[in-house]
Amino acid sequence: MGLKKSVEVKPASGKLGVLLPGMGAVATTFIAGVLAVRRGLAQPIGSLTEMGTIRLGKRTENRVPKIRDYVSLAETSDMVFGGWDLFSENAYEAAKRAGVLENEQLAQIKDELSQIAPMKAVFEQAWVKNLHGEHVKKGSSKMDLAEQLMEDIKRFKADNGCDRLVAVWCGSTEVYREPTEVHSTLAKFEDGLRNSNDDIAPSQIYAYACAKLGVPYANGAPNMSVDIPCIQELARETRTPIAGKDYKTGQTLMKTILAPGLKARMLGLEGWYSTNILGNRDGEVLDDPDSFKSKEISKLGVLDHILQPDKYPELYEGFTHLVRINYYPPRGDNKEGWDNIDIKGWLGYPMQIKVNFLCRDSILAAPIVLDLARFMDFAQRADMHGIQEWLSFYFKSPMTPPGLYPEHDLFIQLMKLKNTLRYTKGDELITHLGAEYYD
Ligand SMILES: NC(=O)c1ccc[n+]([C@@H]2O[C@H](COP(=O)([O-])OP(=O)(O)OC[C@H]3O[C@@H](n4cnc5c(N)ncnc54)[C@H](O)[C@@H]3O)[C@@H](O)[C@H]2O)c1
Repeated sequence: MGLKKSVEVKPASGKLGVLLPGMGAVATTFIAGVLAVRRGLAQPIGSLTEMGTIRLGKRTENRVPKIRDYVSLAETSDMVFGGWDLFSENAYEAAKRAGVLENEQLAQIKDELSQIAPMKAVFEQAWVKNLHGEHVKKGSSKMDLAEQLMEDIKRFKADNGCDRLVAVWCGSTEVYREPTEVHSTLAKFEDGLRNSNDDIAPSQIYAYACAKLGVPYANGAPNMSVDIPCIQELARETRTPIAGKDYKTGQTLMKTILAPGLKARMLGLEGWYSTNILGNRDGEVLDDPDSFKSKEISKLGVLDHILQPDKYPELYEGFTHLVRINYYPPRGDNKEGWDNIDIKGWLGYPMQIKVNFLCRDSILAAPIVLDLARFMDFAQRADMHGIQEWLSFYFKSPMTPPGLYPEHDLFIQLMKLKNTLRYTKGDELITHLGAEYYD
């Protein structure tokens, strides 16, 4: 990738339709938040595309525009929202039930929120055992269901006069299953859809429908929806951006902030024990061990990749890493996480760090949905198709091409994201070398 090559980016003109498979706590907190922000009723805190800046040139030049003024991104006023769910409640009712935002705040945007009703879902009980909903499509095969989704997408686009679309998965975590032969090529996957192969998950049917129509698809859950060869082949064919997986919010966000710091100072790690209590519907779904397995795999990977025990065996070989999530209804969406970190310093002396994070799950996730919707749309207008590794910043398990390990360090991820934006504008990448100030 040369340093001075600008990319032609089509302008963000017209309306952007944001499609959300799964309209529960995260999706409704995102939509309600955008509606409140664009009416000037609240601040978009946590969103890089709203609040973040980007330094250009030397530190002495004082050129630090907002990211949104630097690259062309969809305005919130140009966004229209739609989606699917197996519960027929509209976005106002779903937001009330989720209990994340206060009633008075929801009342201010009730009219707009109530008009957003989910389309019928593609759903199969075997993949999310703890949910039972009726607002579900029927079809003669999984291919028929994919075609119904494509009809939904086209109708939504026409009815709302959208210029462009993006999809951001905000649906539940599906049970963990390794990809099989049916996922190995697009032709086999399409055969599998026609034969309603049991190994094809509902989320993969959404991913297929979107990629087939060239709708960028970001995956907010740990599901194997776009990191399978068949969907990647389709994304290449239709030049569609794909990204995932699993929003990096509460405890994992903290881990990818703290672990790079410990490693930077060459402090060792004996063990990291993380436990959570969570009482929302996501917590209920994760109470099923098979869905938890998907989450656990997604959460466990980060420390190994950041600490690199193979390169620093004296510091990190064999550390213990445990992650627990307990469904505890009284807390609702307000998750509480505890981390006990056993570290070691000079001459091997042990020390401990305790982190008690009283967070709000959907409040942390909603700005990520906004940024992903915008950046995925940007990627498409810049013809950046396939895996969008520069968006690793937002994910617990960032996607990479086969054979390439993911970057989990939040600060490397942020630098990668900003350098990608500079690259698209033909601006100098920032290396932090700084030798020029001493010449
Ligand atoms: N909130 C966070 O901090 C966070 C962080 C990382 C990942 N996530 C993931 O984001 C997703 C959404 O979280 P949430 O708290 O909003 O959960 P939620 O249970 O409130 O919402 C999920 C919604 O998806 C719907 N759904 C399930 N399968 C579907 C299907 N096949 N088609 C259409 N709709 C379907 C459910 O009915 C539900 O309304 C979960 O997978 C969660 O693991 C959340």
